Amino acid sequence: MDFCFHVYIFVFIYFIYVFTGAGVLINKIGINYGQLGSNLPSPYQSIELIKSMKAGLVKIYNSNPEILKMLSGSNLKVCIMVQNNEIISIASKQTAADKWVEDNVLPYYPQTMIRFILVGNEILSHSSEEDQLIWHRLVPAMYRIKSALNAQNIHNIKVGTPLAMDIMQTTFPPSNGTFRDDITHSVMVPMLKFLNQTKSFFFIDVYPYFPWSSNSNKTCLDYALFQATTTNYYTDPNSGLTYTNLLDQMLDSVNFAMERLGYSNIRVAIAETGWPNAGDIDEVGANIYNAATYNRNLVKKMTAKPALGTPARPGSVIPTFIFSLYDENQKTGPGTERHWGLLHANGVPIYEVDLTGKRPLSDYKPLPVAHNNQLYNGKVWCVVAKGANMMELNKALAYACSQGNGTCDALIPGKECYEPLSVYWHSSYAFSSYWAQFRSKGANCYFNGLAQQTIINPSRGGCRFPSVSL
Ligand SMILES: *[C@@H]1O[C@H](CO)[C@@H](O)[C@H](O)[C@H]1NC(C)=O
Ligand SMILES: *[C@@H]1O[C@H](CO)[C@@H](O)[C@H](O)[C@H]1NC(C)=O
Ligand SMILES: *[C@@H]1O[C@H](CO)[C@@H](O)[C@H](O)[C@H]1NC(C)=O
Ligand SMILES: *[C@@H]1O[C@H](CO)[C@@H](O)[C@H](O)[C@H]1NC(C)=O
Repeated sequence: MDFCFHVYIFVFIYFIYVFTGAGVLINKIGINYGQLGSNLPSPYQSIELIKSMKAGLVKIYNSNPEILKMLSGSNLKVCIMVQNNEIISIASKQTAADKWVEDNVLPYYPQTMIRFILVGNEILSHSSEEDQLIWHRLVPAMYRIKSALNAQNIHNIKVGTPLAMDIMQTTFPPSNGTFRDDITHSVMVPMLKFLNQTKSFFFIDVYPYFPWSSNSNKTCLDYALFQATTTNYYTDPNSGLTYTNLLDQMLDSVNFAMERLGYSNIRVAIAETGWPNAGDIDEVGANIYNAATYNRNLVKKMTAKPALGTPARPGSVIPTFIFSLYDENQKTGPGTERHWGLLHANGVPIYEVDLTGKRPLSDYKPLPVAHNNQLYNGKVWCVVAKGANMMELNKALAYACSQGNGTCDALIPGKECYEPLSVYWHSSYAFSSYWAQFRSKGANCYFNGLAQQTIINPSRGGCRFPSVSL
């Protein structure tokens, strides 16, 4: 096919490999255990769930003592993270790095099988002046954490940092993969040197969902879900390599970018990947059918023996962490953000997925039919969500109306939307007006759960609600 994805890719697993006596690599899938939910099971229950799902690894976004204690003696390999706001101090003093390892590793290791420490999260995706100060401290902080581990004689913990696909200047064709100019020499070159020296992994958050959804199309959906047929494979004209799926294409753009800088042996690991199981009306393809299909096929690919790798790195084992264990209701942004889970917040599976990859795909029960693989075509409004709290609505209303440009002019006494004088009515108007005006600048119809999208026109009488046309 022509290329589905020549657009720039802006985005964001885990996998275990162990050497057996015969030196055979065994691949197990990892899970990201995010905790941004108000209603999630306890760490104890969560770890029991992760074990029952037969994951091989678990990644947490911090170094939560309760979780790390609870993982003691389990077979799960563990990935922990240094917080973004700890990087500068760790980079500046070896004693700070030593203390971090003393506080966050030594109390649990080796009973808890910590195998990766990731320094920061998607550091290079934030670009304020303050953030850029952190960019330049990232690699020094990685060196210091590694030295602190060495000083403790710990040699089986790899140090890395998860980056998002927005580190790429070019991703297409994959052989043209190039890192962004603003980070190549200052950050990427020293980082690759560190990763190569320490035989660590290049951790990448890689979501085929994002490039696909920004340019959605049926043929390309099959390619994104690992279900393309030979006629839809893509051959890179420069390398001659043939791609059967979008994930490989994205991973190889990173491999080629590393190679361009002289590093062709650094292994890639997937810190996050997945597919949303639900989303807003203006989000295409976020459904259980696609999420289950993506993750089942991903697991099959990553647990295959011998390892499949990618076209540019055939046979390589790619440690992979699926995002995420649960749907997390405290994440802000569009609806998909709260729907990346394999499990509902109560621990019940949203769909079945065998993380060992052994279950044949034909062996699963039929999935619910996908109804949103094409973008909804029509008008959408943003109104007060069911159950919204009145006090919070007042604040959200004030916020929506204070963003400028007469967002709420129609709500002034005497104007067409003033009546009925209720917080619900005024908020619904204000949400629709705000969203219609600022969506193109990245605004969401969310307001901390107070707002939701609707295709039912809420306008009444002479009051016409602004809408978004999809
Ligand atoms: C979808 O993308 C493929 C590959 O670029 C293209 O051949 C096909 O015409 C597209 N289909 C639609 C309906 O746009
Ligand atoms: C890829 O890079 C090569 C060599 O730099 C260049 O000739 C070619 O035009 C590029 N292709 C695309 C599609 O950017
Ligand atoms: C990467 O590491 C390998 C093995 O330690 C070494 O032989 C090679 O020269 C390194 N590559 C670069 C570009 O430094
Ligand atoms: C306000 O609206 C005007 C006209 O619709 C537009 O040109 C301007 O960019 C808007 N300003 C903001 C802050 O959105």
